Amino acid sequence: MIKKIGILTSGGDAPGMNAAIRAVARAAMSKGMEVYGIRRGYVGLISGDIFKMDARSVSDIIHRGGTMLFTARCPEFRTEEGINKAKATCEELGLEGIVVIGGDGSFRGAADLSARGILCVGLPGTIDNDIACTDYTIGYDTAMNTAMEMVDKLRDTSQSHDRCSVVEVMGRNAGYIAVNTGIACGAVEVITKEKPYDLDAIAKKMLETKEHGKENFVIIVSEGVGNANQIAQVLQEKTHIESRATILGHVQRGGSPTLRDRVVATKMGYHAVELLEQGIGNRVVGMQKDEIVDFDIQEALSMKKPYEDELHRIAEELAF
Ligand code: ADP
Ligand code: F6P
Repeated sequence: MIKKIGILTSGGDAPGMNAAIRAVARAAMSKGMEVYGIRRGYVGLISGDIFKMDARSVSDIIHRGGTMLFTARCPEFRTEEGINKAKATCEELGLEGIVVIGGDGSFRGAADLSARGILCVGLPGTIDNDIACTDYTIGYDTAMNTAMEMVDKLRDTSQSHDRCSVVEVMGRNAGYIAVNTGIACGAVEVITKEKPYDLDAIAKKMLETKEHGKENFVIIVSEGVGNANQIAQVLQEKTHIESRATILGHVQRGGSPTLRDRVVATKMGYHAVELLEQGIGNRVVGMQKDEIVDFDIQEALSMKKPYEDELHRIAEELAF
């Protein structure tokens, strides 16, 4: 029976990470384990910035964005020396298992640590939903709702001015936030890395719909596809429709998590502790068809996630 576990958050933060921390901490305590909070991801594991948690350590956090454990990117952990230091910290404290809340990069680190005998279980925490072994990542729902609210506000002013609003949303290399926000906001076009796009065709579509009475436009651009300012400028030149670009940025990473993020984070966190309780490590927890599942970390990292082609197609078909 595992007696001591640690929890850390790593990589970009996401709303719902706190709910996951609470679930892991309370589930482990209820099963009689000691729980340690590790600050700033692998940085804290290397330096020993670790504290013992009790039930009250995770009070009043379920509704808060960010992560009470702080997060960081830790280049040192990618070196042999860094991993060995982290392992030594675990051995000194008697930590037998660690729950790592983060994205693919963090899971690679968790696999490295698992290979050295520390049982690690990963929970998918990222707004991007770009983790293949799970339909859903902690933070995704809140981020999409934030993006939708922001675009709704932009739409008010675009409507008043007969303008086109080009809005860049986050997603690193994935268009999931973009396509869903596009659908939810009735965008005339969604531009993502997964689908080729053509600014001439977009301008033509805008002019055609304008002829049919459309007076204002929303275009959602996924981060990394192109420059939203440039796209707005080119479209304005081609259509003579006044256009403005807005980059939503890190506002999408903050805020109180939605019910869905809190519930999924709690279920996943609970499952992670159940795995550790059985002495099972080197796993990533996910959700498939509303069921909580888990995979070997290497297997999870080798999976490919399909893009939402059908949703993208529907967004385009409805935009006229
Ligand atoms: P995310 O977990 O959100 O994908 P990163 O890619 O920034 O975020 O990874 C978070 C941390 O995980 C890194 O700072 C590093 O400490 C660790 N990490 C990332 N990639 C690897 C890797 N290939 N091997 C070991 N550790 C890694
Ligand atoms: O992975 C989450 C995310 O917000 C991505 O959407 C974005 O590309 C990246 O993190 C931004 O990272 P940083 O916080 O380092 O600017």
